[in-house]
Amino acid sequence: MPLMRLAAARLPLIVTALAAVSASFFFQVPALFSLLAFALVAATLTMTRPTERTRRNLSGMRRAPIVWPDTGMKAVAQSLPSPTFLLDIQGVIRFANEPAMRTFSQARAGDTLSMTIRSPRLREALQAAVSDESSTFEYRERSGAELVFVVSVRPVHHAAAEDPFILVLFEDVTERRAVARMRADFVANASHELRTPLASLSAIIDTLQGAARDDPAAQSRFLSIMHEQAERMRRLLDDLLSLSRLEMRVHQRPGERVDLGQVVRRVVDGMKPLAGELGVSISLAIRDEPLIVLGDQDELHQVFQNLVENGLKYGNSGERLEVDLGRVANGATISASVTDFGPGIPQEHLPRLTERFYRVDVVSSREKQGTGLGLAIVKHILTRHRGRLEIASTLGRGATFTVRLPAATTGENGESATPAATQNAAERLSADA
Ligand SMILES: Nc1ncnc2c1ncn2[C@@H]1O[C@H](COP(=O)(O)OP(=O)(O)O)[C@@H](O)[C@H]1O
Ligand SMILES: [Mg+2]
Repeated sequence: MPLMRLAAARLPLIVTALAAVSASFFFQVPALFSLLAFALVAATLTMTRPTERTRRNLSGMRRAPIVWPDTGMKAVAQSLPSPTFLLDIQGVIRFANEPAMRTFSQARAGDTLSMTIRSPRLREALQAAVSDESSTFEYRERSGAELVFVVSVRPVHHAAAEDPFILVLFEDVTERRAVARMRADFVANASHELRTPLASLSAIIDTLQGAARDDPAAQSRFLSIMHEQAERMRRLLDDLLSLSRLEMRVHQRPGERVDLGQVVRRVVDGMKPLAGELGVSISLAIRDEPLIVLGDQDELHQVFQNLVENGLKYGNSGERLEVDLGRVANGATISASVTDFGPGIPQEHLPRLTERFYRVDVVSSREKQGTGLGLAIVKHILTRHRGRLEIASTLGRGATFTVRLPAATTGENGESATPAATQNAAERLSADA
């Protein structure tokens, strides 16, 4: 390094040497003194002379900004919806757009990005960008809920600057990955659910052809098991088909004017035989009449059918079921709840109950002819109706499933109902009827 500097400073050194020699020669300055003066100048130049690199940078800075991206560049980065950083060639953050500051609040301008976001892949990618190579890799951010990003690192050349900037863009793929995983899980679960009754059917057919060939009593017992298993497969296929139809129409909002009170009354009437069998009495309270929502009558029937059936099947030990309907939020929302007084559901299961095939107790669900898809269907239907499902439970005391749906207004789209408007709609409807 000192040698390089010495070489770089050759011109002033030659001048000094000439001056020293001529001083000794013409003005009788002692040679030792001239030599000392030359050595002093050479040492000073070696220590203070800028290197070729810094000289380049300095002259560059005079020509154009080297480390700070210009306004246009920043504007482009700012307009990107994904977290985006602009770094200088040293990997120092020179600009972070808003999504970047929100997602990586610890990364500030002036910091080295790879010190804040610690990933060996990022360090490699930054090195590659210095040699003008682009790269893409996956990065998982584990502070808080895990986020998955696809990170693109690209050198960006600027006409006025000698060194390129480095653009680092984080594309959030957390949800996409979760959906892909759910889809894979779903197919695996569905095949597993179908395979179980299928295996049982095959085994029975073997027995009927073999050991039970001449045993009419066994044959009739086995046939009834076959019937049960076939029914189970049918229920599963029906539910799968329902789900797939709902998925196809998830963005179409149903527009029929439906009286929720009537729907629930019909569901409760239909469930009376099952309630009798299980020794549960159902009480129905409808506080306002009528309760109009924009929806699909059959789908809403399916929602309450499943909630009431679940309450009866899983909460039968409580011996009663309460169904309660009325308006909340100044009449803008219709709320319908189904409360059982059975064993309840442990808190940790509540957020997952609407997942496909999620069951608190698989054996009990199968015994009760469950498919594990009922609440997933409920959630899908409610999403399509812009409604939601709330689940509350106290262990040992029972569970309450509450459906909230926007009340229909006089307008067709059912948006933002005021109590007066809702009242008018209700009155008009009863006048029409
Ligand atoms: N009222 C309830 N009380 C206790 N557990 C319930 C109740 N409703 C639903 N569950 C639990 O939620 C699971 C999912 O319900 P659902 O999606 O309707 O599927 P299933 O076909 O098993 O009824 C059930 O298997 C059961 O474990
Ligand atoms: Mg169910």
